[in-house]
Amino acid sequence: MNLFKRITILVIIGNCLSLSSCRSNKSKVNQIDYVTETGGKVDFGKTEVSAYTPEIRANMEKLYEDKFGMFVHWGPYAQLEGVWKGKEVSAEWIMHNAKIPVDEYEQYAASLFRPEKFKASDWVDIAENAGMKFIVLTAKHHDGFAMYDSKNPYNLVDFAGFDRDILKELSEECAERNMKLGFYYSQSQDWHEEGGAGNSWDFGSRIKPQDKFDAYFNEKAVEQVKELTTNYGDIFMVWFDTPIQMDDEKCQLMMDIVKDNQPGALVNSRLGQGFGHFDVSIDNGKTPSVSKATWLSDLKVPWQTHESVTQRGWGYTSYGGENDRSDEYSDFIYSLCRIVGNGGVYLLNVAPRPDGTIPQSQVNSITAIGDWLKVNGEAIYGADPSPLKFPPYAITSKPGKIYLHIKDLVDNQVVLNGLLSKVNKAYCLADQTMQSLEFVQEGELLSVTVPEALKQPRVTVVVLEIEDEAAKVINEIIQQEADGTINLPVAKCEFAIRRISYDYEEQVTHRWGENNKQGLIWTVNITKPGVYNVMSEDNGNNDYVFELRTPSDTLDIAPKGNIGEMTLKSHGTIQINQNENVTISAYPKALIGMSSRFNFKGLKLVPVK
Ligand code: GLC
Repeated sequence: MNLFKRITILVIIGNCLSLSSCRSNKSKVNQIDYVTETGGKVDFGKTEVSAYTPEIRANMEKLYEDKFGMFVHWGPYAQLEGVWKGKEVSAEWIMHNAKIPVDEYEQYAASLFRPEKFKASDWVDIAENAGMKFIVLTAKHHDGFAMYDSKNPYNLVDFAGFDRDILKELSEECAERNMKLGFYYSQSQDWHEEGGAGNSWDFGSRIKPQDKFDAYFNEKAVEQVKELTTNYGDIFMVWFDTPIQMDDEKCQLMMDIVKDNQPGALVNSRLGQGFGHFDVSIDNGKTPSVSKATWLSDLKVPWQTHESVTQRGWGYTSYGGENDRSDEYSDFIYSLCRIVGNGGVYLLNVAPRPDGTIPQSQVNSITAIGDWLKVNGEAIYGADPSPLKFPPYAITSKPGKIYLHIKDLVDNQVVLNGLLSKVNKAYCLADQTMQSLEFVQEGELLSVTVPEALKQPRVTVVVLEIEDEAAKVINEIIQQEADGTINLPVAKCEFAIRRISYDYEEQVTHRWGENNKQGLIWTVNITKPGVYNVMSEDNGNNDYVFELRTPSDTLDIAPKGNIGEMTLKSHGTIQINQNENVTISAYPKALIGMSSRFNFKGLKLVPVK
């Protein structure tokens, strides 16, 4: 299948507004209808539909229902608290970023790591109070240290001499409390081993000769994943990360091991090469549109993203792990609403101190979400995404109901543009009496009045009871302006893969340009075919080139201008011959690095007179 066909499928699937309308497409193929290109590191779609066994389906349904889990980054790096030789370096990447030799990391971090105050029941209490339904703990991060009693001696029990298996304690506590448990495992990067990917400062190069990597992989990674999937009861998921040097065979082997030992355990897409049961975005990844691209005909397979309540990394640092973030509680809550509204699942990270306690400031941040969920959980747990593909703010839905999530509601009007289903009743979810709110619905415009007394702190949820089971909405395909201009804002595009992010406030891309499969895809109704002048709005970056594609033409665009300053500029012309709905896309060509501050807001195509 060529890329264009794939994208067409992606767009068709993306446009399906209900599960049943997708069914006919799906039955023709045996792989997930997503970007199935596997040349990239973390694209998704290799796993066969037959891998979605009844056990996997049952857990996938739970994941879709649960929406919200706790990520925990914890290991010997916490011992260093982000500081090396008096300098603030980084959190869980400190060994790498400060180029700490293995023996020094062993001496100053791993051998000192003795989490005496770790108490599994405290962690589960904290997760429960936050409304989180599962926990994913780093069983081994890139530093190579196993946080459990592994046969490989570089672990908490044998190496650090700590005589408790905290994974056992946590798994037993979780099992008792009905909290699901997953393990993060860094399968490729292992900075402790000569054959593991990533450590160039001790072992010469980041990428390892094949025989050395194979030896590391088979002797350590495979064995440890076997241990993790046999010794700790029922595992909800295995969350792999940074698939460097992973080929199809290695990925399949991991899939098989997990499946043999834990038939229900879900595997994430960072296993590599398109494998896994569900897709994970880049870190902190957000999308402008609802994405159901990975749904099967009869199974809602959500995508997942993750953020941290700490600052400056995922693991504990003295300067990012204790910060009071009470100013941002609304943002944390609203992140969850936005993600669920776009079809995602949210993992929110905490970073325990080296002694095993979770700082109170972090507990407070996530408990604020839990408090909100106690009142508003109906709009999150088990909720479907927004019926509008490009929701103007966070919207979730359930059969016959739509939930409008308004952050820090200032005035008394909640407005929605695009709903066609008749609204029978509106009320505030927090209002137990379900008092009817006044509203005006005229065509596609709806305005609901929320009285002062019903406005909620942080995020107010307005429930709309509608006449239809599945909401009817306006056609969201981009239309040409009266003068023929075509506006292509990022806010109205779909991402070909989830390895880009989006800034809702600035309405710009984030990390676009790192990978040549990071397509931005617009669907446009062309009524005036012809030649168009192309203008871009971005903050300029001369090293970067992307290709704009219409069904009839392509144009290379090198964003220019002063880096950092958002400007509109011209780039030449492009042709569109079709008189129908077309796909216009933009794909990175000459790539930019992760540190680039390039922001892209969109394109304007103006007809040539
Ligand atoms: C990254 C980092 C890692 C972190 C992870 C969280 O890929 O390498 O440190 O564990 O993302 O998603």
